[in-house]
Amino acid sequence: MALRQLEIGLVFALGITVAAVRDDLNRGLFQGGQCNEEASESLRLTFHDAIGISSSLTASGQWGGGGADGSIVIFADVETAFEANNGIDEIINEQEPYLLRSNMSVADFVQFAGAVGTANCPGAPRLSVYIGRKDATQASPNWLTPEPSYTVDTILNRFMDAGNITADEVVYLLASHSIAFQSKIDPTVPYTPLDSTPNVFDTQFYVETQLTGITWAGNTSVLGESMSPIPGEFRLQSDYAFARDPRTACEWQSMVDNQTKMQQMFAAAYTKMSLLGQNVDDLIDCSEVITSLTSNTVLPAFLPAGKTAEDIDQACPDTAYPSLTVQPGPAISIPPIQTA
Ligand SMILES: *[C@@H]1O[C@H](CO)[C@@H](O)[C@H](O)[C@H]1NC(C)=O
Ligand SMILES: *[C@@H]1O[C@H](CO)[C@@H](O)[C@H](O)[C@H]1NC(C)=O
Ligand SMILES: *[C@@H]1O[C@H](CO)[C@@H](O)[C@H](O)[C@H]1NC(C)=O
Ligand SMILES: *[C@@H]1O[C@H](CO)[C@@H](O)[C@H](O)[C@H]1NC(C)=O
Repeated sequence: MALRQLEIGLVFALGITVAAVRDDLNRGLFQGGQCNEEASESLRLTFHDAIGISSSLTASGQWGGGGADGSIVIFADVETAFEANNGIDEIINEQEPYLLRSNMSVADFVQFAGAVGTANCPGAPRLSVYIGRKDATQASPNWLTPEPSYTVDTILNRFMDAGNITADEVVYLLASHSIAFQSKIDPTVPYTPLDSTPNVFDTQFYVETQLTGITWAGNTSVLGESMSPIPGEFRLQSDYAFARDPRTACEWQSMVDNQTKMQQMFAAAYTKMSLLGQNVDDLIDCSEVITSLTSNTVLPAFLPAGKTAEDIDQACPDTAYPSLTVQPGPAISIPPIQTA
């Protein structure tokens, strides 16, 4: 049942003033509507909650998890101890006061905060907002969240098992790494971004993961890490592999400098992800409440200064690599992301 009421620009659902929760988050957690560390971590949290569901576990008679059910927050004592959730307790704690005064289900709030934060990043698509999810009654089983050390096979199988998420859709979901950083994989180099533009939701992530790796982000390699093309940038082993695997390389390359495609495909894949374990027919669509606070135009994709077309490990046999302009100036290194 689509019960929807729009009044003076505010979206109401189930007695919740959704726009008021949005404004509360933007005033506080997102520091005046910024694409900050908390925006990135809030998007990460949506995924780590939603992926906690397994059709094969359920089929074998075991508890398979509830997907986007808020379990990562409700059962934080269990789930933040999972290896894949290292460090995620920080954003759960930071979100808590906003959650408590939101009147939303925990499951809704987790996805909502991710959508609001992402909208603050220039270039980001408007993510869908659904209200009315049922909250978890049990923690997710462990080992359902893919880790950067896993193979492409393992990760693709996991996404299919979670909810028929295809290889192409995995490529799209990884656009989230455009605004991502790492702190716990190699704790000696915290806040290291995964691309050179961590405050912009652009296609640079897909460009830079295709460049030849030349250096480790810290002094030594760590589990789940691949050599990075630029000092100060961190490359996940799994991102390296997706950019080069025959099943994903062409779709990966097709994202380069196609901002519209990235926006549309990421938004659709995010919607699918954010509804895992829930029935959309029981939910209210409040997507109108997401407004972009920042400019939505981004620069064309580029080769980072100091790189040439020779540095691209092209892996798609079907299509020539898009021709990109080279950022002017001497070879860059990337500073850690700004934290409050
Ligand atoms: C939450 O519910 C209380 C009590 O009904 C109400 O006063 C408050 O405005 C609600 N908050 C939001 C954000 O909807
Ligand atoms: C995945 O696809 C199978 C086979 O088409 C179907 O039975 C199942 O319900 C689907 N699962 C989800 C979560 O969409
Ligand atoms: C790398 O090693 C050098 C020399 O031992 C040390 O000074 C520096 O702090 C190390 N950097 C990191 C990130 O651990
Ligand atoms: C961007 O992607 C869309 C959708 O796949 C495609 O139709 C379009 O040709 C692409 N644009 C460029 C410039 O490659």
